[in-house]
Amino acid sequence: MATSTALAHPNIAFIKYWGNRDNALRLPVNGSISMNLDGLFTRTTVSFQPSLPFDELIINGHAVMGKGLTRVSYILDLVREMAGLKINAEVMSENNFPAGAGIASSAAAFAALALASSRAAGLTLSEAQLSRLARRGSGSASRSIPAGFVEWQMGNNEEDSFAFSIAPVDHWNLVDCVAIVNSAHKKTGSTEGHAIAGTSPLQNARVADTPRRLEICRNAILNKDFEAFANIIEHDSDMMHSVMMTSNPPLMYWQSATVEIFHQVREWRASGLPVGYTVDAGANVHVICLGDSAKEVEKRLRDLPGVSNVLVAGAGGAAQVV
Ligand code: DP6
Repeated sequence: MATSTALAHPNIAFIKYWGNRDNALRLPVNGSISMNLDGLFTRTTVSFQPSLPFDELIINGHAVMGKGLTRVSYILDLVREMAGLKINAEVMSENNFPAGAGIASSAAAFAALALASSRAAGLTLSEAQLSRLARRGSGSASRSIPAGFVEWQMGNNEEDSFAFSIAPVDHWNLVDCVAIVNSAHKKTGSTEGHAIAGTSPLQNARVADTPRRLEICRNAILNKDFEAFANIIEHDSDMMHSVMMTSNPPLMYWQSATVEIFHQVREWRASGLPVGYTVDAGANVHVICLGDSAKEVEKRLRDLPGVSNVLVAGAGGAAQVV
């Protein structure tokens, strides 16, 4: 029996991944940039056991079947193929952040799975190979493999579509204050969203413009230029949501409280507080600020009507074997 345990952080995208040129391989239509979120993690143990009649998945103590298990078995199949193994595995996974907290769990989950399963199978993959493997489970998981501030290059093919670190964890003291907005709406998942991104007439323009946004964002991070950074992440998030809203069927993730936070964040920035917003496929707002202002930003967010909770996370490290 070969067992390995790995831990990975979720990440928040500053330049968003939205749409694939190959849905099965999760080859994106554009590159993206993100920051791992410290303190939040998924811990996953994979053990290959000859006695198992099929793969088993247990998340936070509950057995998972159906789609969730199929997605995990797909990654295990890739690992078995690489390692020449024909044994089923038990996968036990735990998140330390609540489901529905506005933080996608798939990025941390598939990054931890890629690392734990490949190690348990006796493979020692490079960071790029791990990133590619995690990508096959969830695109954004490719970015939870390397440390700190990360770019996922779209690449020309399956081999060169992976993520790498552009700056280490301690490069810049950025903090993500996630404002949890009460939401009664059941959201459409990212996988379904990627599949219809191309139905929006705005998607081609967004994709064509991505190299410009990537460059501005990368430079803002490298130069620690907060004003440029805040402007580009808001612009990029707004562009992705414009595509979502104009897809067929249309996806409207924002709630009224989401928009109210946008207005507040822009007012706060205009009055000198270093803050900017970005939103993934949900209603919750990731308010990114400089570390020195995190306490003040958290307090102001908690005082807003419609905000039920605020999670606070700085830059996080790479996926690691524990
Ligand atoms: C809006 O990586 O969750 O958060 O590959 O289908 O699992 P799948 O999609 P996923 O998409 C993330 C979309 C996003 C933007 C981003 O994280 O870049």
